[in-house]
Amino acid sequence: MSETTIESILQEKRLFAPCSEFSQNANIKSFAEYQQLYEQSISDPEGFWANLAETELDWFQKWDRVLDWQPPFAKWFVNGKINISYNCLDRHLTTWRKNKAAIIWEGEPGDSRTLTYAQLHREVCQMANVFKQLGVKKGDRVGIYMPMIPEAAIAMLACARIGAPHSVVFGGFSAEALKARLQDAEAKLVVTADGGFRKDKVVPLKDALDEALSNNGVPSVENVLVVQRTKQTINMQEGRDHWWHELHAQASINCPPEPMDSEDLLFILYTSGTTGKPKGVVHTTGGYNLYTHITTKWAFDLKDTDVYWCTADVGWITGHSYIVYGPLSNGATSLMYEGAPRASNPGCFWDVIEKYGVTIFYTAPTAIRAFIKMGDEHPNARDLSSLRILGTVGEPINPEAWMWYHKVIGGERCPIVDTWWQTETGGFMITPLPGATSTKPGSATRPFPGIIADVVDLEGNSVGNNQGGYLVIKHPWPSMMRTVYKDDDRFRRTYWEHILPKNGKYLYFAGDGARKDEDGYFWIMGRVDDVMNISGHRIGTMEVESALVSHPAVAEAAVVGRPDELKGEDVYAFVTLEGSYQPSEALKEELKKHVVKEIGAIARPGEIRFADALPKTRSGKIIRRFLRNLAAGQELVGDISTMEDLSVLDKLREGA
Ligand code: WT7
Repeated sequence: MSETTIESILQEKRLFAPCSEFSQNANIKSFAEYQQLYEQSISDPEGFWANLAETELDWFQKWDRVLDWQPPFAKWFVNGKINISYNCLDRHLTTWRKNKAAIIWEGEPGDSRTLTYAQLHREVCQMANVFKQLGVKKGDRVGIYMPMIPEAAIAMLACARIGAPHSVVFGGFSAEALKARLQDAEAKLVVTADGGFRKDKVVPLKDALDEALSNNGVPSVENVLVVQRTKQTINMQEGRDHWWHELHAQASINCPPEPMDSEDLLFILYTSGTTGKPKGVVHTTGGYNLYTHITTKWAFDLKDTDVYWCTADVGWITGHSYIVYGPLSNGATSLMYEGAPRASNPGCFWDVIEKYGVTIFYTAPTAIRAFIKMGDEHPNARDLSSLRILGTVGEPINPEAWMWYHKVIGGERCPIVDTWWQTETGGFMITPLPGATSTKPGSATRPFPGIIADVVDLEGNSVGNNQGGYLVIKHPWPSMMRTVYKDDDRFRRTYWEHILPKNGKYLYFAGDGARKDEDGYFWIMGRVDDVMNISGHRIGTMEVESALVSHPAVAEAAVVGRPDELKGEDVYAFVTLEGSYQPSEALKEELKKHVVKEIGAIARPGEIRFADALPKTRSGKIIRRFLRNLAAGQELVGDISTMEDLSVLDKLREGA
């Protein structure tokens, strides 16, 4: 983050207006209506949010103040009492939605389940009672390490019901990564499954958890609740481990929702940063409930007739906000799919759309690029005519992938909502509203009502149209992260001290570069910090470096992202070896495996390059800029005068 502006080259002029029939039936029907909402939300933000909180959610007790903003700390709906599981479940039971499908689930082997709101409510109450029986009290943290099965959502809602913050760890993370997260959250209970099915393999979740907990690895964990999914043989530790189906059978179906303070902790979700240690992003209850609710309703134009499918995993924020909380708060039908497209079934997503008549489909650019590669014959062989809206998230979508999505999947009839947001923002920040916003391929378009977004230089001054700069948010919003778990200082440093306006105002900056075009459309240019975006997920370069140097052969490691056709970015590692080790292909493989073991398959380096030395400044900092150029096979650009030893570069170039 040294340059004050960022060069922007992408120029895309195609414009797609929503068709009038779509707009007429939409929740937000025109650009004028969006503009009016936006103006209102900016001129009186507190009135705007209070009105929505009142009309869209059920509260046990009304708030005294809408917003308490002591930068960078925000409180929303101060002293309001609410329970998000009540808003996602109980309130629908007094309406016709009681017997509407809340979750439609499809397992990878082809098994399936549907839970109505009444059934889901019952399951959640039962699991919440089991949590209580296992000693979980309001405020205790619960770890969730699950495959994509309904019990993952049930466990989250059960936590919310009794006021026990959850910390979901993505099932693809390794035992080491799981351990670090459970330790930081000091989880008292962990909910897991024997395993899950993914890409025709069994993911051994319980084994990984056993490893994380071995040698008293996470002393806070008292109990483990195990859901049976794959029926593989696992170890059950007497006294600590309990089968869900055994406790479920005796659990009462009555469990009143705990009245939570609007600012009570709802969940912690760990995300990668520029330093080695993942950050525990803290989200609280009332504001998060409201914001995920209203963004789902407006950006997906949600209707009671919709079958809505978000392909994310519940282990990521997308799964939290847009599989579980946002859709269920609206009383929608949310589809969950356990599997992933795989060689044995490249058309599985299209089968699911056809089978259930999915109307709203939300996925990631990395998946879209993979579908393009697999061939049009797969979607073309299925009936996708039920679709009416498409969504994308995770990284900038290349205009050609957007066009393919529009034509081949959307039949040129479905608006595409390209939603820019982050783990930290809780919900969509910049997104089209499908009946109101004309879209441009590759642009996330305009800020959601209530969001003041801008592109600025390092001093917080707005840059001109089409100038690259830093994407910031200038006013608090209800679902913003409240802090880094147990580390207010890191929260301040990471998000609020990069851009420093002279007037002392606080601007939220979480690492993306962007430009705004002459129509006020935002074009996200990707991360400007040392964070890679691999298949739509953030992995810190430092995290991979720490994993590499924990191997005895590695003296020093520098990791950069390299552009990758499918994944967006791929991990590229430069490694120097300890004296007694010799470079070899076998060692490369061993180091790749080591990273998978330490972090998970998502961080597996695509390429490892051995070097004699790494390029450094005189103060000893690795100059990543050069390494990025080298990894991408480009000429080195930029100032080399600060380099300590110029011969290092020549050697690296020769080795290419
Ligand atoms: C980072 C946040 C938010 C859920 C998925 C990832 C990138 C996300 C977009 C988009 C361009 C995007 C950004 C952001 N990103 N959505 N529509 N266009 N870039 O959550 O792991 O917190 O990552 O993903 O770089 O900062 P996350």
